[in-house]
Parts: sequence; structure tokens; C-alpha cells
Amino acid sequence: MSLKGISISLQNALDVLAPCDCATAVSSHGEAELIELPNNAYDMIHSWAKHRQEEFKAGRRCVSQALAKVGSEDRIALPDADGLPNWPHGFLGSITHSLGIAMAVAAKKEKYSLIGLDLEKTNRLSESAARRVVHPLEVSFAGDNQVNASILFSLKEAFYKAQFPRSRELGNFRELALSVNLVEGTADIKEMNTRFDSELLHLSFAFKIVDDFVISLAWT
Ligand SMILES: CC(C)(COP(=O)(O)OP(=O)(O)OC[C@H]1O[C@@H](n2cnc3c(N)ncnc32)[C@H](O)[C@@H]1OP(=O)(O)O)[C@@H](O)C(=O)NCCC(=O)NCCS
Repeated sequence: MSLKGISISLQNALDVLAPCDCATAVSSHGEAELIELPNNAYDMIHSWAKHRQEEFKAGRRCVSQALAKVGSEDRIALPDADGLPNWPHGFLGSITHSLGIAMAVAAKKEKYSLIGLDLEKTNRLSESAARRVVHPLEVSFAGDNQVNASILFSLKEAFYKAQFPRSRELGNFRELALSVNLVEGTADIKEMNTRFDSELLHLSFAFKIVDDFVISLAWT
């Protein structure tokens, strides 16, 4: 499938996955030039590798579209010192990119308090990386199955991105064990390290496989 075709399929899937009152956008890196950034953003990215500049701009294009849909006048969300986007007052969201595709989700803070979005390939995770991702309680689900391990990886990245703005805590994949429902495309927390805020136990998780990508969302 072409990048454009994948991008349309991912947009359709993300729209189904996103909880109500969230806005989403998907863009391919080829569309990166369609966004005009403020001068301070160009100052920040001008020394970056071309690929990373395109990825960043494609992500900001998605942010701009998603924030417009939820009614924000400020539509850029430049990163802070931790790389975390500065969402406009009263709004929150999350950005992800993978292999030429960027995506964003945005919502009003009055509707949601935490949100994390992730996009991964399902055929890239090495065995050694999978071992770092999979918690002992998840071994029966992941086994030697690269797709299932990739789903866990993506869901945990979404978890990490949802929790970071509140905690500013780095994570370790094996501090979280998830129970995944492949039929429903949902997951629940089986076990979570107690150093994380118990509010995170209320996170909802959803994921969807599209071609050889997995999209994951975590929100509360
Ligand atoms: C932050 C992180 C998830 C980003 O990974 P990545 O492979 O670049 O992933 P994505 O493309 O999906 O996301 C990148 C975007 O996430 C956002 N981001 C960056 N740091 C972030 C953070 N700490 N929290 C939330 N979002 C963050 C940015 O918008 C970034 O895009 P941009 O730089 O173009 O603005 C990763 O670097 C990381 O630190 N992971 C830790 C994983 C972990 O500890 N997991 C444990 C789970 S229990």
C-alpha cells in the first residue's frame, strides 16, 4: 500500500479508536512543508537531520489540525526541555510518528486529564527488545509472537506518554503488566509499580492493527 493509502487507513482507524470529543489528525512526512512554523521553531530545528525536521513538522501539522478541531486558537505546542509538547492552556494531546507517518490527538482538559498516543510497526521489535518490554505476567500473551509483543510495546509507550506530563517520571517497561483483549482491541492494567500515581489505574487503553502498524491510545 502507498504511504498515502496507509495514511488514510490510519486516519480511519484512529477516528474509530479515539474517545468521544477528541480530535485526531494523520499526516505523511511528504506533507510536512504544508505547515508554517513560528520563527522560534525554525531556530530550534534548523540544525536537526532532514528526516527529523520532516517528522517534527508533520507532527506539528497534525497538532494544528487536531487543535483547530477542538476549538483552540493557539495551534503549535512546541516542545519543552523534556521534549514534551506545551499544549495550549485548557487543552491536552499527544503526538507520535513512525516511518513517514505522523499522528496527533487533542482534547479539552475539561473532558480528559491524561492522554497518550503511539504508533509502531508490528514487525520491527527484536527478540532482545521484546524481552525488555514484556513483564513476567505478560509472557503467556506475548510468547514468541512479535505482533503481540509489539502491541504491548505500543500500549506501554502510550501509557508512558499519558503519565509523563503529570509525573515527569521516566519509566521502565517491566513496571507495568497489561492484560490485552485482542478481540476487543482493549487492555487493562494487571500490575503497576506503586511509584506511579494510583490515578493511572483508571486509564483506558485501546489499540488497532492497521496493515503492519499498531496504533495505541491511553486516556483518562
Ligand atoms: C518519549 C518517548 C515515548 C518518545 O518515543 P519516540 O519513539 O520518539 O516516539 P513517538 O514518535 O511515538 O513520539 C514522539 C513524540 O512524543 C512526544 N514526547 C516526547 N517526549 C515526551 C514525553 N516525555 N512525554 C510525552 N510525550 C513526549 C513529542 O511530541 C514527540 O514528538 P516531537 O518531538 O516531534 O514533538 C520515548 O522517547 C521514551 O522516552 N520512552 C520511554 C518509554 C518508557 O519508559 N516506557 C515505559 C512504559 S511503562
